[in-house]
Amino acid sequence: MYPFLKELQQSKISVNEMQCAFLENLRKHQSDYDFWAKKLKFCMDKKTDYIFWREDFGGKDITVSLLYLEPGEVHPPHHHNNVISVQSVVAGQIWAREYHRIKCIDEDKILIAPVQERLMTVDDEILAHEWSKNVHWFAATNEKPAVMWNCNVRGFETDLFINPSPKSLGRILLDPHFKVVNGRFLAKSLSLEEAYAKFGDKPISNWPIPKNVVWETDI
Ligand SMILES: [Fe+2]
Repeated sequence: MYPFLKELQQSKISVNEMQCAFLENLRKHQSDYDFWAKKLKFCMDKKTDYIFWREDFGGKDITVSLLYLEPGEVHPPHHHNNVISVQSVVAGQIWAREYHRIKCIDEDKILIAPVQERLMTVDDEILAHEWSKNVHWFAATNEKPAVMWNCNVRGFETDLFINPSPKSLGRILLDPHFKVVNGRFLAKSLSLEEAYAKFGDKPISNWPIPKNVVWETDI
């Protein structure tokens, strides 16, 4: 994967081309059944994540891991500052909702539009970057745990959505349905504690998309 990071840095490939190359890499490695079975067993037995690769390049970094989710575990709604992510379900099922960022109002408020909502099964993917489907909210289904291959590339993008740009890279928790303004959701940043208190143990379906909100389908 490292050569693709280098090519991205040198502007030889686009962010989306790198995401597709990473996915291709993943699919190639998945054909090594024993390798994957062992890693998956580690996550399931220990009920924890497995880190394949984490490296800090000085203000930029990459983490490639398997993300373990307990049955019903919710990853509350969030967007990201300067993160390219590629996620693919490896085991179990994940209910996911994705939104697209439309406009930055200020450091703590953004306008967003829903893009899609679905039950993800093995090999289904979520791709996000600074300018595409950067808000997501997902949860393992109640019946069994789920594991997701998770690749986060932070700090590599130069054209950033949030203005003024936050100092820290990564996840910013949100109330995505704070208000509806002209058919868009006004989403407001939350602290980690606020986000888990509000969304942490509740199904995403508790927050249906109102009829007056416009979906963004052409992303
Ligand atoms: Fe995320």
